[in-house]
Amino acid sequence: MVNSPDFIYKDQQYKTVFFETFGCQMNKLDAELSLGLLQEEGYRIVDNVNEADVILFNTCSVRQHAEDKVYSHLGSLKTLKKRHPDVIVGVLGCMAQKDGEAIFKRMPHVDLVCGTRMFSRLPELILKIRSHGSHVLAIDEDHIVNVKRAVTYRPNIHQAFVTVMRGCDNFCSYCIVPYVRGREVSRTITDIKEEVQALIANGCKEITLLGQNINSYGKGLQGAITLGDLLSELNDLGGLDRIKFVTSHPADMSRDIIRTISRLEKVCEHLHMPAQSGSDQILKRMRRGYTSTYYRELIQFAKELIPHLTVASDFIVGFPGETEKDFQETVKLMEDMRFQNCFIFKYSPRTGTKAAELEDDVPDEIKRARNIRLLELQKCISLEENKKIIGKNVQVLVEGASKSDPNRLSGRTKQNHIVVFNSPRNLVGRLVNVMIYEVTDLTLYGELKNSP
Ligand code: SAH
Ligand code: SF4
Ligand code: F3S
Repeated sequence: MVNSPDFIYKDQQYKTVFFETFGCQMNKLDAELSLGLLQEEGYRIVDNVNEADVILFNTCSVRQHAEDKVYSHLGSLKTLKKRHPDVIVGVLGCMAQKDGEAIFKRMPHVDLVCGTRMFSRLPELILKIRSHGSHVLAIDEDHIVNVKRAVTYRPNIHQAFVTVMRGCDNFCSYCIVPYVRGREVSRTITDIKEEVQALIANGCKEITLLGQNINSYGKGLQGAITLGDLLSELNDLGGLDRIKFVTSHPADMSRDIIRTISRLEKVCEHLHMPAQSGSDQILKRMRRGYTSTYYRELIQFAKELIPHLTVASDFIVGFPGETEKDFQETVKLMEDMRFQNCFIFKYSPRTGTKAAELEDDVPDEIKRARNIRLLELQKCISLEENKKIIGKNVQVLVEGASKSDPNRLSGRTKQNHIVVFNSPRNLVGRLVNVMIYEVTDLTLYGELKNSP
């Protein structure tokens, strides 16, 4: 028994892990859950690859650029792996699911390819590589994801992401997510509540519910359960200050859900609801299921019910066939909607998607110019909107030291503005009032008004 490889590897050595995550918040949470599992097995996290026994990348496939970055990181590990063949290199997440076996062909020094549904088996997969000395491919599409977590392992004690559904059924024509994350599966309210209660008992004040298309939460569950029902139940839990949720899809965001949000005091007054384009013919070819007018009316309805509501959006520029006129419609939508902030992406064809069958006919310089134009426009709008807050008191949930100045604290308002302020005391995890005296397009600066 003493000489069994499992015994040696499990209990005595090879216990440092380097972990880097790319992509969206779902990937960040999956990374957190994976690291929690490894820490329970006795692994220590290191931030230098040279000190690691196991090097893992949780990857994203949403655009070509995201994949190129990972392949370049993997390539740079070739010499390290030659010097230390015992080090395990693993690729997890969306790119692992999409490229599978091909990753071993392109990067023969990779030991593990673990897809989006298999991360809960990481410790076991690592042991398998150690004891068999061969590559392991784990991308089973039917595997049911185990999202049970040890609530004690998370980067910030006062905040937590909580998965409420996985996968996406929308198949927007440009998007790889449904192919790599599979069909929508919602967790039950009971299951989610149990996790949130455990998080609250562990000091959590704010939860962010995650789903690629969170407005269709409940589909497939027994009874006619909606996101509104889930939010109402969580709003009743004592000890929690704030509830956020991402990402909203305009076609699935019902007016009933908006009414519910307007009634619940803990639910943040912020929607991340990507428009993607302002042109109806592009939206149609993107298979988004709504028109620009529908989007405008939905936001108008939401702002009437929730007067302080802020909205963030994503846009794709240079989708196949996007003319200057289509692009001007996007500019107009952005001007009219007064978004709080926007993420702008250059269209990147993804093999296997419907849009990949269309010619990627907008030249890169035009994509780049449109990207810059939208970024500049949004920057002006964000600054103008933030200036309206100067002289006002805002309520802030304090998150930690400011990234740009560790002597100051940083937090967020209920409308998702970032606020930086001075404080004589550590108020992390508290709700405080701050008077805003200066703003940029990204940040509000203020003075602490009360300290509970
Ligand atoms: N589920 C979310 C977003 C998922 S991906 C939603 O539906 O809103 C995040 C963003 O990446 C998308 O909103 C879209 O703007 C962008 N994106 C997705 N596929 C893309 C592609 N092929 N090229 C460029 N941007 C893309
Ligand atoms: Fe992709 Fe559309 Fe699903 Fe969002 S809703 S993940 S953009 S297919
Ligand atoms: Fe990327 Fe996968 Fe998220 S493709 S955007 S990491 S779901």
